Amino acid sequence: MTQPLNVLFLSSEVFPFAKTGGLADVASALPQALKEIGHEVRLAIPRYGFVNERKFRIHEIIRLKDINIPIGKKSAKLNVKSSFLIGDRTKVQIYFIDSAEFFGRQGIYQDPKTKRDYPDNDERYIFYSRGIFEILKRLGWAPHIIHCNDWQSGLVPVYLKKIYSKDPFFKNIKTVFTIHNVAYQGLFPKETFPKTGLPADVFTPEGAEFYGKFSFMKAGIVYSDFVTTVSSTYADEISGSEEYGFGLEGVLAKKNKKFSGIVNGIDYSLWNPDTDQFIPFKYSVKTLDAKVENKKYLLKRFNKKFEPGVPLVGMVTRLVEQKGIDLVIDGFAELMKLKVQFILLGTGEKQYHTKLEALAKKYPDEMSLELGYNDELAHLIEGASDIFLMPSKFEPCGLNQLYSLKYGTIPVVRKTGGLADTVAEVNPQKLTGTGFFFQDFKAGDMVKAVSRAVTLFGDQKSWQKVMRNAMMEDFSWTSSAKQYEELYNKILEK
Ligand code: ADP
Ligand code: GLC
Repeated sequence: MTQPLNVLFLSSEVFPFAKTGGLADVASALPQALKEIGHEVRLAIPRYGFVNERKFRIHEIIRLKDINIPIGKKSAKLNVKSSFLIGDRTKVQIYFIDSAEFFGRQGIYQDPKTKRDYPDNDERYIFYSRGIFEILKRLGWAPHIIHCNDWQSGLVPVYLKKIYSKDPFFKNIKTVFTIHNVAYQGLFPKETFPKTGLPADVFTPEGAEFYGKFSFMKAGIVYSDFVTTVSSTYADEISGSEEYGFGLEGVLAKKNKKFSGIVNGIDYSLWNPDTDQFIPFKYSVKTLDAKVENKKYLLKRFNKKFEPGVPLVGMVTRLVEQKGIDLVIDGFAELMKLKVQFILLGTGEKQYHTKLEALAKKYPDEMSLELGYNDELAHLIEGASDIFLMPSKFEPCGLNQLYSLKYGTIPVVRKTGGLADTVAEVNPQKLTGTGFFFQDFKAGDMVKAVSRAVTLFGDQKSWQKVMRNAMMEDFSWTSSAKQYEELYNKILEK
């Protein structure tokens, strides 16, 4: 290790406090991994209304009470609460940015009932971003690095550059902005801009203006000292074409050497079939045969028959276009011809809920479906399935294929983003590789890839060899955390 650094890590989701997807897992595991290699890392997250204060021992910080945060002509009061993120080997302090007005709600970004984004998401995350500086000053803790993640903390680099760096306390702080998904940009009407209190030059094409609107993500990209995303292939994709960059490709390409991909790791203390608290039958590379007991258990839970020789294909996913749900729906009849069973756990857009429910009705013996968020079942599906399907249209990194590798649940994935970087195509003769790819975003191509997996599954000896290949891969955080450490040092040197 080099010099210990003070790092403030900002995320709108952190597991186990608040989670809609992979960002929460990363924001939990990466700070712990950085702490383990010797850095002083702290987290700051909004204190959403559903976070259980008793369970997580969250308490007030008396000297950080009733801080006024200006939002346009109004102002709102901020309180800070604190707790620890307790991991296997280390604990990380976490600050909860509390405001009954902005965060005392049951959803993170959306009203869970209407599934609509909260209309004041701009004000909520302006409040959060500005609040960070007010808190640091009062704490007397100046980090070397503020590591921002996704649009919700995209304004932090610009607040630093344009307002707070005038104060010597903040002058030397550097910012890293990590893009977990460029499809969610925090794009608001121009009326949002005056609420930030930022100078007018920020609302220009060189700054955070995006075709007449105000983009929090563009702000993060333009004003941070370095931008990263969560895999190398995705870095190339989003700076290379509009299809992947969603209009920000030019801005990213312009960052040039100040933009790169660092692949995510996973937390093996939570995702390991040998110790997983949620799967009834533990197993490892040495005890592969035990895995099938989890399959029997899961099928029974969904009232399905266990049929030896019939593979179970699993999916755990947000139900949004990104995840390739359309391919699954369009190709479902063909999939069923392969003689597989299928289980999907997911929640998201209503249209997908409706279509998947219809399929489950049509194929009552083959298809199991749970629409909702269920952490325990997510683990169980990894532990029980033979094949894991991720036909994503785009995938910045993807964590589920990494969990699948560890659980010997062979991934079938579209060759894009982090999926392309973390899975290796199986060679059925040499029995090398860890999964199966398809390239074009077409239902037929997806079905063909699943079919290749099903064929290999027919030869259990070969299949188990591939399972072992997958389970022996190492995607622990250690090496990626070191890459972030190097990056922090590099930008601090300048
Ligand atoms: P994304 O962040 O785009 O949703 P990732 O693969 O990076 O995709 O991460 C998804 C994470 O969210 C995984 O930890 C996965 O297990 C979890 N997850 C997704 N949907 C559900 C669900 N319905 N219930 C429980 N966990 C889910
Ligand atoms: C985003 C991406 C996903 C990635 C996760 C964590 O949600 O969609 O691919 O794994 O962030 O970085």
